[in-house]
Amino acid sequence: MSADENLEARIEAAIKNPRNLGEMENADAVGTVGSPDCGDMLRMWIKFKEENGRRIIDRASFQSFGCQTAIAVASVATELLAGKTIEEARTMSGEELAAPLGALPPVRIHCAQLVEGALRSALSADQTVVPSGASANTTAPTLFDQLSANTKAKVKIVMATDKHG
Ligand code: FES
Repeated sequence: MSADENLEARIEAAIKNPRNLGEMENADAVGTVGSPDCGDMLRMWIKFKEENGRRIIDRASFQSFGCQTAIAVASVATELLAGKTIEEARTMSGEELAAPLGALPPVRIHCAQLVEGALRSALSADQTVVPSGASANTTAPTLFDQLSANTKAKVKIVMATDKHG
């Protein structure tokens, strides 16, 4: 098998059985990023825990409106992230996050960078602090909600007009 075929096989395997797919209840942090290259979007949720006096990533999950490579990278990356400290996770590049799949061709690097971007966004969002006990979901609409936000705004305007009219 060539390196390319290996990569395709690993991506296919990751997509068939994606790990940590879906919104996380009670996440401590959430980050969303869109790719300027292709318009794909990815959101990542993170839950932290304390271990030996250090704050580490307990688990991470993701949701994607993205290509197969981004989904495969997010799947392996969320597995890699468990047990990492915030500092360790913050320094991980897209290539490192995608490492279990093998080296990505240049045309797909931005797919891994989408995952890196969502991770960074989540880790910086963590500094703005989600009150403990509160679900991050209350401040983190799903991708679908976000994408349909414009529609909702229009609906609100119509309702307000009706009220005052
Ligand atoms: Fe855009 Fe993969 S093609 S994230």
